[in-house]
Amino acid sequence: MTTDEQAPVSEAQIAVHWREEDYYQPPAKFIAQANAGDPDILKRFGEDHFPECFKEYADLLSWDSYWHTTLDTSNPPFWKWFVGGRLNASVNCVDRHLATSRNRAALIWVPEPEAEATQAITYQELHARVNEFAALLRDFGSVATGDRVTFHLPMVPELPVSMLACARLGVIHSEVFGGFSGAACGERIADSQSRILVTMDAYYRNGDLLDHKVKADEALARARELGVEVDKVLVWRRYPGEYRSQSPMVAGRDFFVDEVMADHRDELVEPVSMPAEAPLFLMYTSGTTGRPKGAQHSTGGYLAYVAGTSKYYQDIHPEDTYWCLADIGWITGHSYIVYGPLALGTTSVMYEGVPTYPDAGRAWRIAERLGVNIFHTAPTTIRMLRKLGPDEPAKYRYRFKHMTTVGEPIEPDVWRWYHGTVGKGEAVIVDTWWQTENGGFLGSTLPALHPMKPGSCGPGVLGIYPVIYDETGAVVEAGSGRAGNICIRNPWPGIFQTIWGQPERYVDTYYVKYCRDKDSTDWRDWPYFAGDGAVQAADGYFRILGRVDDVINVAGHRLGTKELESASITVEEIAEAAAVPVMDELRGRAVEMYVSLKPGFSASPEVESKVARAIETEIGKIARPKNVWIVSDMPKTRSGKIMRRVIAGISNFTDVGDVSTLANPEIVDDIRQQVQTEKMARGEVPRELTPEEIDEIKAFGRAE
Ligand code: WTA
Repeated sequence: MTTDEQAPVSEAQIAVHWREEDYYQPPAKFIAQANAGDPDILKRFGEDHFPECFKEYADLLSWDSYWHTTLDTSNPPFWKWFVGGRLNASVNCVDRHLATSRNRAALIWVPEPEAEATQAITYQELHARVNEFAALLRDFGSVATGDRVTFHLPMVPELPVSMLACARLGVIHSEVFGGFSGAACGERIADSQSRILVTMDAYYRNGDLLDHKVKADEALARARELGVEVDKVLVWRRYPGEYRSQSPMVAGRDFFVDEVMADHRDELVEPVSMPAEAPLFLMYTSGTTGRPKGAQHSTGGYLAYVAGTSKYYQDIHPEDTYWCLADIGWITGHSYIVYGPLALGTTSVMYEGVPTYPDAGRAWRIAERLGVNIFHTAPTTIRMLRKLGPDEPAKYRYRFKHMTTVGEPIEPDVWRWYHGTVGKGEAVIVDTWWQTENGGFLGSTLPALHPMKPGSCGPGVLGIYPVIYDETGAVVEAGSGRAGNICIRNPWPGIFQTIWGQPERYVDTYYVKYCRDKDSTDWRDWPYFAGDGAVQAADGYFRILGRVDDVINVAGHRLGTKELESASITVEEIAEAAAVPVMDELRGRAVEMYVSLKPGFSASPEVESKVARAIETEIGKIARPKNVWIVSDMPKTRSGKIMRRVIAGISNFTDVGDVSTLANPEIVDDIRQQVQTEKMARGEVPRELTPEEIDEIKAFGRAE
């Protein structure tokens, strides 16, 4: 065995030296109106009240029948929450608000072209649209409770309408991020065995009306290769009555929703009363192997959890105007644009396009015009807004009481700009740490009760008891300055129920590592392994360092190295491929691909762009690599494994560590010479990295 194989660098061994940041106190004005202003709430959600504490979240919902068991742990780790309870998610997000707020805007949709009028959709109108589309899905689409329907929809109001229509029928929706390719959509159709695809003809992004329907044809072709035949493609139109895609409609298969809808106008659909533990939706995410994971979320537990966290952590009151800039194609949008805010009966703003289009003031014009007072976005967007318009926020009269950052670690410096310039020093900030699998927040400060600390998410949220373990399962103590694997010691209502169709993978990926006794039905024996490295300061606040698996977080999007590598080797010239993260000032991390060629082929810019294109085709534009390096060979261990951490070190100009035990140590200098010379010529030498960033690079690929 080589040294590399014997002693991978473990998170727990990495000493993390970061500068302690100062606290920022929430403003008195915020505290005075906060939903969680009384510190008693911390006691109510203390461990001695678990799991009954979550009754408080479930009681935010309207139940058709109340549950008899709060948490059923009889088949761990397949937890069941609120067993015996029945409810309908669309009733909770729409119908029940009609009595008091039928004319309040549920959604305000802002099209990207500034000349197009903003659309406010009241709860009454949303109710009508959800019912009509539910009728269409049921009668024309022939879907029934428990079926899966895949959506490939952009940021248009038809997306939440489609979600809530499925929820009304007890049909499981699976939205694929609109920016994903047709092929990626097809894989998810096949995995979930959906017979219906709901898509759109076109949408605006960065000033262009993108043809989106064309991806449906690619998706169906891929699904067919994988053995799943789609019966119907339901096509919403960006401008009803006008078709803006070049792709032909296939007779008998493709239908315009606005046309079919004529038969369902004003129809009402009786909501199906679903068991709390019935699946509400699937959300696919990346992992260490190529096959995407369909995180299956429940109806009662999930909805209770997003309602509760929206109330206390987003501080949403029905009178607020709340704007989350995420895409509904990701979990953040599901939980904190659609289900959480609408369950609370507030106004949720949706924006179609790019926040800096047509200029860096756009986001702030929207906020000013609509009177947004709660703002929610990701570090990548904050960095971009700062870069393109550092002084723009001051030019607009909006006032935020509350802001969120989510999806990636935020640099303290970026945090301070967000606080001082975007928030004008008046808004609290919550840095919410969580994942697709979790349904809702795991780590955050309670905005009126805890001071903020730039770069740290804060403690575990209400009813969540995190712990950091080292590789041996020993607890890494708060304040030790050591990093380890952050885990959650207990189940919570928002946790996903399984990976769709892959229950063993669910157990293996998230629970086996730290399970103390596989025969135990005591939840205490089943900590949840999140797959993130973290450090806990003496004050109990967690700082999340990033993924410990082979996932690269690009602009808050999880990309699996295996998916990137499989896409690259679909190019006929490519023999081997390795994906590594490279520090990127805007997107946090970007992807660089290293590829080697099959014998008989030679390197050329064409081959490089073929690899980039293959990644776009297989995954989507968001995964486009920053660089593709064609190398003569990959650095490998004697057993033939590609040493990703070595090439990651080269790409980031950091120390590659000891390479003397590699099978081909001489290759390292060749690659370094080739890549770094070119990067210097292109002006791509990174700034000096922080100790944590250097540790991250060193640790990359250690899961191999
Ligand atoms: C990362 C997004 C630091 C983390 C909701 C996690 C974060 C992955 C934060 C999940 C944060 C998310 N600070 N890192 N506040 N929030 N992450 O599934 O590595 O798209 O495991 O869910 O993003 O990404 P996902």
